[in-house]
Amino acid sequence: MATIAVTAEDAPETRVAASPDTIKKFAALGCTVRVQHGAGLKSRISDEAYTAAGATICATAEETLSGADMLLRVRRPAIEQIKALKPGAFVVAILDPYSDRPGIEAIAATGASAFAMEFMPRITRAQSMDVLSSQANLAGYKAVVDAASMFEQAIPMMMTAAGTVPACKVFVMGVGVAGLQAIATARRLGAIVTATDVRPATKEQVASLGAKSIAVEDEEFRQAQTAAGYAKPMSAEYQAKQAELVANHVKGQDIVITTALIPGRPAPRLITRAMVESMKPGSVIVDLAAERGGNCELTEPGRIVDHNGVRISGPLNLSGTVPVNASALYAKNILAFLEPMFDKKEKVLAINWDEETVKGTLLTRDGKIVHPSLQPTGA
Ligand code: NAI
Repeated sequence: MATIAVTAEDAPETRVAASPDTIKKFAALGCTVRVQHGAGLKSRISDEAYTAAGATICATAEETLSGADMLLRVRRPAIEQIKALKPGAFVVAILDPYSDRPGIEAIAATGASAFAMEFMPRITRAQSMDVLSSQANLAGYKAVVDAASMFEQAIPMMMTAAGTVPACKVFVMGVGVAGLQAIATARRLGAIVTATDVRPATKEQVASLGAKSIAVEDEEFRQAQTAAGYAKPMSAEYQAKQAELVANHVKGQDIVITTALIPGRPAPRLITRAMVESMKPGSVIVDLAAERGGNCELTEPGRIVDHNGVRISGPLNLSGTVPVNASALYAKNILAFLEPMFDKKEKVLAINWDEETVKGTLLTRDGKIVHPSLQPTGA
């Protein structure tokens, strides 16, 4: 019987890695779940709700962790937390493996098997385990809601006896998971929406949401999607053509939401200072790529910058501002990932180390860093 520990996240993280729903399911798999007192409070989950679902509430992190087989987290836990687990225990979290090599080495040294949820392979079967999707979807929604509240005008067109209020023009750059939800949200609010991406597959998706697609459609564009569904870095020539197109379009927009990312690289720079200066005062840019350097030249991560009356917001952890939903979905992602690792009849862990989602996310095992993308050669 496996013991699962869920400890409280460090501020400012608002999310939590287990919900009453997922705890019930883990209990049905034969697990004992320990939750640290107050771990769910910022996601509006009380200790009582966890207890009712079958968890044991522990007063401290030490008590929660002591001898547990698995630790479920949103963010990377302190090494002391991992050391308190059973030798060879599992740690499941968003581990940010590229940004802190010494941190991953320290996890490896504990002997734990650490799984980075953001490395989940993007295969159909793993959609329910995909934390990037579950969190980006909420971020795309919240970016539009935040932009609408910063914008000092109404979003939908209103025809009134006193005159007509024009519809707001929203431009979404990057039509992945976050961008699609941003388009849908802006459309629901009544905006006139345009969107751009370098992947041709997005054209149909943009149209199906009632928005208009804008893109440089050359031969490179037709080849821009990798087998994994991601964008490739574009050539300098393409970037120049794209910048010209965007520059002409951006100056007429009221709200711009940028979400463009390329895996493992800094965010592509899509909005220059000159483009910002071409926009009307009162316009708003929300840059969801702020954490990875930003799509806009003037973005400052975690801040709102006012440049000649154009406000540029670079929010960090936007899904964490809707923690109730973000935690529920994240917890479900973890459950969907771990559930197949259990032998349902014997109610024991029976992990297949060769399984694609396991191999794809496993960073460390038996004292070593094992993920191919983290090997010194980068092989
Ligand atoms: P992402 O967060 O890596 O990138 C966001 C968007 O930015 C992408 O659409 C990308 O094409 C775009 N982009 C990159 N460079 C750009 C540039 N220079 N100009 C404009 N746009 C640029 O992508 P995300 O949201 O994680 O998903 C990408 C795709 O992956 C999805 O649309 C889908 O096809 C696939 N996917 C598959 C899943 C599965 O099967 N399990 C789950 C989620 C996504």
